[in-house]
Amino acid sequence: MEKLIVSNLSAEADGKKILNDLNLTLSKGDCMALLGPNGHGKSTLFNVLMGSPEYTVTSGSVTMDGEDLLALTADQRSRKGMFMAFQNPPDIPGIVASDFFRASVNVRRGEPVSAYDFYKLTEEAYRKVGLNSDMASRHLNEGFSGGEKKRDEVLQMLLLEPDLVFLDEIDSGLDVDALSQIASIINEMRAKGTTFVMISHYDRLYNIVPPNRTAVMVDGSIVLEGDASLAKRVSAEGYSFLHSEYGINLAKKRPIADPKAPDILSLGVD
Ligand SMILES: Nc1ncnc2c1ncn2[C@@H]1O[C@H](COP(=O)(O)OP(=O)(O)O)[C@@H](O)[C@H]1O
Ligand SMILES: [Mg+2]
Repeated sequence: MEKLIVSNLSAEADGKKILNDLNLTLSKGDCMALLGPNGHGKSTLFNVLMGSPEYTVTSGSVTMDGEDLLALTADQRSRKGMFMAFQNPPDIPGIVASDFFRASVNVRRGEPVSAYDFYKLTEEAYRKVGLNSDMASRHLNEGFSGGEKKRDEVLQMLLLEPDLVFLDEIDSGLDVDALSQIASIINEMRAKGTTFVMISHYDRLYNIVPPNRTAVMVDGSIVLEGDASLAKRVSAEGYSFLHSEYGINLAKKRPIADPKAPDILSLGVD
C-alpha cells in the first residue's frame, strides 16, 4: 500500500449515522495515533475500512493505490494486506485456532504453507507475543483472558504479514511486560515499512510506539490532525481544548434513528 485515500465517507448501522463526511489520507510507513472520545466512531471507521457487513456506506469513497476499496469484500481486503486487531475480539467456538491460522496464511500467501514451515512460523509468533503455543489447539478466543485475546490478535498480525494495520485499543488489558513485547513487534514491522493506525486512549502506548501523525475524531469526522505532540496533549489534558482553542463542538448530533433524542447528546462515555 502506497496510499489510502478516504474522501467524504459517511456510514451508518441500524439506520444510525456514525461516520459523517470523513476525510483521511494515509501514506506508506505512517504510524497514526487515532484519538477521540468514546462512542464517536473510531472503531466504526476501522470496521468500515475493513468491509464489515454490519455497516452501510451511504456516501463517499475509499481508494487504495487508486483502486476502489469499497467494491471489495472483507476477505479481498485482507488478501490485499489489510489487517485489523479487534477492540473486542469475538469468541469463535468450534474453530480450532491453528486450522484458522493455517487457512488464513495460505490465502494471504496465495499458496499452501508446508506443515513444517507453518509449525516454525507459529512457534516463533507465539514466542514473540508471549503465549504458550499449546493455545493453537484451542478454539479461537474461547475462554481466553482479555490480555490473551489481545496477544492473539497480534499473533495473527505476525502470521499474516499485513501492509496496513488497524490496531483498536490493542493496549487495553495488557500488563506492562505484554505491552512492551507488543510494542517491539509493532516497531519491528514499522521498520520494514508497515503502515499503522492505532486507537488508544493512553500515551503509554504512544510513548513506546511514537506516532508520526495524530488524528482526532469527533462525531464521525476527523476534526483535527497534528504530530505526536497532539496525542500527548490529549492524554495530558483531555479534549476540552478542542472547543476552547479550535471551536470544535464535542457533542454528537441527533442520531437519525432516534427522532425523540435531544438535539445535542453530551459526550458519550462507555
Ligand atoms: N453495529 C452497530 N449498530 C448500531 N450502533 C452502532 C454499531 N456500531 C457502533 N454503533 C454506535 O456508533 C457509535 C460509535 O461507536 P464506535 O465506533 O464503537 O465508537 P468508538 O470506537 O469511537 O468508541 C456509538 O454510539 C455506537 O453505539
Ligand atoms: Mg472503539
